[in-house]
Amino acid sequence: LVPGDLAGYKFLITAGPTREPLDEVRFLSNHSSGRMGYKAAERAIYRGAEVTLVSGPTDLEAPAGCSNYSVEKAEEMHEICSQVFPDMDAAILAAAVSDFKPANFISGKIKKNDRPGLELSLEPNPDILNSLREMKKPGQKIIGFAAEAENILVRGRDKYEKKAPDMLFVNDISAKNTGFKSENNEGYLIGQNFEEKITERSKAMIADILLDRIKELF
Ligand code: C5P
Repeated sequence: LVPGDLAGYKFLITAGPTREPLDEVRFLSNHSSGRMGYKAAERAIYRGAEVTLVSGPTDLEAPAGCSNYSVEKAEEMHEICSQVFPDMDAAILAAAVSDFKPANFISGKIKKNDRPGLELSLEPNPDILNSLREMKKPGQKIIGFAAEAENILVRGRDKYEKKAPDMLFVNDISAKNTGFKSENNEGYLIGQNFEEKITERSKAMIADILLDRIKELF
């Protein structure tokens, strides 16, 4: 690994959860910490790449030296990603985007005394990975993520076939020290003609392996 080996390459990186508002005080979201995406951004910058980080709400500080967009809703993340992607060499889509959003936004605050029970109607959010793949030009690469608790290789391979990124990292969230909120990760890197087992290690080290493989794809 040589610092500067990614000089001249431009990466779009998504990270963190999205928040889908129900009313002015409540939202639907998930437990993504954003760590995997932020580490990928940090390592890519260290190795000389130009990084655009598009992140949902996290407790993390964006690494110095990247263009940083903070978003809340999947739709906002989708809009910025669609705008910036044409100028990128690769997109690393580590965000845990909410698949659904409330169909109706209620202004103000939903009152419990108005409604003895509450039924939520949800509608699908745009799939950022799918829409970037549709606008992809020759040479551009898309890297997706998947989190699975069992049969991770089979499910990862299935997701890879369905969503057709250039590579997919499927991580094992059933293991004690890895996954969503932890410092470490483990899983498989899946590509067209290969799969690589990645044993437990820090998210920074996983990011470096991912970046090495993306560089080989270029
Ligand atoms: O289909 P699934 O959500 O499991 O796919 C995960 C991959 O797709 C991740 O890379 C995630 O960032 C991306 N994704 C996305 N937009 C969505 C849902 C997932 O970009 N609405």
